Amino acid sequence: MAEIFTSKSKDPISKPEEVRNFLKNKGIEYRFWDAHAQSKPLLSMDSLNDGQKEELLLSFENRFEELKSEYSYKSRDMIVLNPEIPGLDAMLAKFDKWHYHTDDEVRYIIDGSGIFGFHIQGEKFEVKVSQNDFISVPANTNHWFKLDENKKIKAIRYFQDMSGWTPVYINESDLVTIQ
Ligand SMILES: [Fe+2]
Repeated sequence: MAEIFTSKSKDPISKPEEVRNFLKNKGIEYRFWDAHAQSKPLLSMDSLNDGQKEELLLSFENRFEELKSEYSYKSRDMIVLNPEIPGLDAMLAKFDKWHYHTDDEVRYIIDGSGIFGFHIQGEKFEVKVSQNDFISVPANTNHWFKLDENKKIKAIRYFQDMSGWTPVYINESDLVTIQ
């Protein structure tokens, strides 16, 4: 279950309804989707070859079908990150700075965890996402993403338009004026 950290409260927001409502008010869609039991052996492996990734993607295909029927998602892929991946820090450095995309950023975390930072409606807050969290961040939303101390995540990414996936970077000082 996602946890939300804001400057307004000492304790994180972690009750399902409160998490969903907080994010909805910020324009972010959140769902909690339990993984099937049949996916668990592959989910427990740190590294996956292409065939294993495809097998795992197929085990979540019902989610893709559900999303395709509601939205215009056209493709999906999977990212598997762990400390053994060559160039992990350089890869992560592209996304841990304030940026936005012209396509939605849609992620289904199927294993591991990570942290999104947002600046929406003049408020900065962080959302820790972990296994079974689905999050859909609208296009043009100011955000960053980083891994936590475990440095492990498996996530399915859903795309409407792959060309909208390039990050557009923003200076921290400009955040107050961009909404
Ligand atoms: Fe991003």
